[in-house]
Amino acid sequence: MDVSVFVANQSHLNHAVDIALMMQDAAQVRGTGIAKRKPEYLQLKMQEGKAVIALAKDKVVGFCYIESWSDHQYVANSGLIVHPDFRGTGLAKKIKSAIFNLSREKFPDAKIFGITTSLAVMKINSDLGYTPVTFSELTQDPAFWQGCSSCPNFDILNRTQHKMCLCTGMVCDPQKMKTKEANPTGFSRFQSFLLGKAERMKKIKNLLTQKKRTA
Ligand SMILES: CC(C)(COP(=O)(O)OP(=O)(O)OC[C@H]1O[C@@H](n2cnc3c(N)ncnc32)[C@H](O)[C@@H]1OP(=O)(O)O)[C@@H](O)C(=O)NCCC(=O)NCCS
Repeated sequence: MDVSVFVANQSHLNHAVDIALMMQDAAQVRGTGIAKRKPEYLQLKMQEGKAVIALAKDKVVGFCYIESWSDHQYVANSGLIVHPDFRGTGLAKKIKSAIFNLSREKFPDAKIFGITTSLAVMKINSDLGYTPVTFSELTQDPAFWQGCSSCPNFDILNRTQHKMCLCTGMVCDPQKMKTKEANPTGFSRFQSFLLGKAERMKKIKNLLTQKKRTA
């Protein structure tokens, strides 16, 4: 079945209850870390243009939204959910990619981060340019960590004074992304200079051999 992924808006408010139920069911199955979200909160995200929704005909099959922390210095792409019937088809990857681009558009200077126990999410994040970090590299905004309070492992997080838990923290720094985009080879200026020099030497050598042959 065809699935469309796009930025959610006012016309999708009626899907909020189904999304909240999907999140609740997934949290029960996994027994770990998906913070509970009220339909009204998801609707607010849709109204603010900070959510991505996936629809198969008129049925909601996936969702994710943006939250910002520490005065917009950090952005999290939270609440990623794919309907069980649509998993393993690359849908989460499409949703994450869409919400990632939306985050960079709305908050170009913010670090985009997430915490997760999901291998699939770690894989998607790595592909998008996130790297694993300790929790000290994430927002220290208490409101973010309060979002973990509905997780059964919240006591571990509190016991370690928010330094570690079962989730892995991952961050994507747009400043580092910009450097990579400007220099897709990943070579330093000096390495590029040396490579350029070697290339020029090779061209001169080829020219000289050609001249010798034609002489
Ligand atoms: C996690 C979840 C969003 C993944 O959705 P999905 O649509 O099945 O994921 P995709 O099909 O886009 O897969 C993305 C990548 O992860 C890999 N992957 C998917 N499920 C995986 C799993 N269980 N274990 C390891 N890797 C997995 C896929 O192979 C794919 O990698 P590839 O690009 O190399 O092929 C979905 O299972 C879900 O909604 N789970 C419940 C809610 C949840 O856990 N949310 C995350 C909270 S942090």
